[in-house]
Amino acid sequence: MTRMRTSLRRVTERDLRQIFEWRRSPQVRKQMISRSVITWRGHKRFWAKRLRSENPSFIVRFDGQDAGLVRLDAVENAHEVGICINPKMHGKGIGSAALAEVVKLARKKNLKKLLARIKLGNAASHRIFEKIGFKPIYMTYELRLKK
Ligand SMILES: CC(C)(COP(=O)(O)OP(=O)(O)OC[C@H]1O[C@@H](n2cnc3c(N)ncnc32)[C@H](O)[C@@H]1OP(=O)(O)O)[C@@H](O)C(=O)NCCC(=O)NCCS
Repeated sequence: MTRMRTSLRRVTERDLRQIFEWRRSPQVRKQMISRSVITWRGHKRFWAKRLRSENPSFIVRFDGQDAGLVRLDAVENAHEVGICINPKMHGKGIGSAALAEVVKLARKKNLKKLLARIKLGNAASHRIFEKIGFKPIYMTYELRLKK
């Protein structure tokens, strides 16, 4: 059972290099809302701030290995979930199991509502969020005026 083998631990500074590698891989980047190529300097600055904030971030552990990242961000009246699994480990049920852990944690913390922003073409992500009970509530349209 995949779910039994998945757990979460808090992100520390020692994880930043690994998170950087996952986040900047083309496979992950094409699914992110912001596709910009991140720099190591920007990444470190972002995480220095994040690690001091109230918003929790966790490394997903799978079979004794670090397999990805999940985070919860307080937004208006809800918490937004972000998830990123090591691209070399996609399709093994880790994303689904990690999301189940986050939902469990959110219930334990008595949070009111979870949200996720997911690109239309990101089928694996739609699947894992819908499987656990998230419902799509709106769609964002864009019109590109410049390249
Ligand atoms: C989305 C993501 C977290 C999924 O992680 P994962 O460990 O590969 O997910 P799982 O293996 O648990 O499940 C993937 C599901 O999507 C399905 N799937 C995968 N590719 C698919 C596709 N192209 N079309 C339809 N379904 C697809 C799988 O069959 C599986 O469904 P199942 O459980 O019913 O079999 C991972 O792909 C990722 O990190 N993507 C980049 C970051 C991202 O997109 N984050 C989401 C925005 S917050």
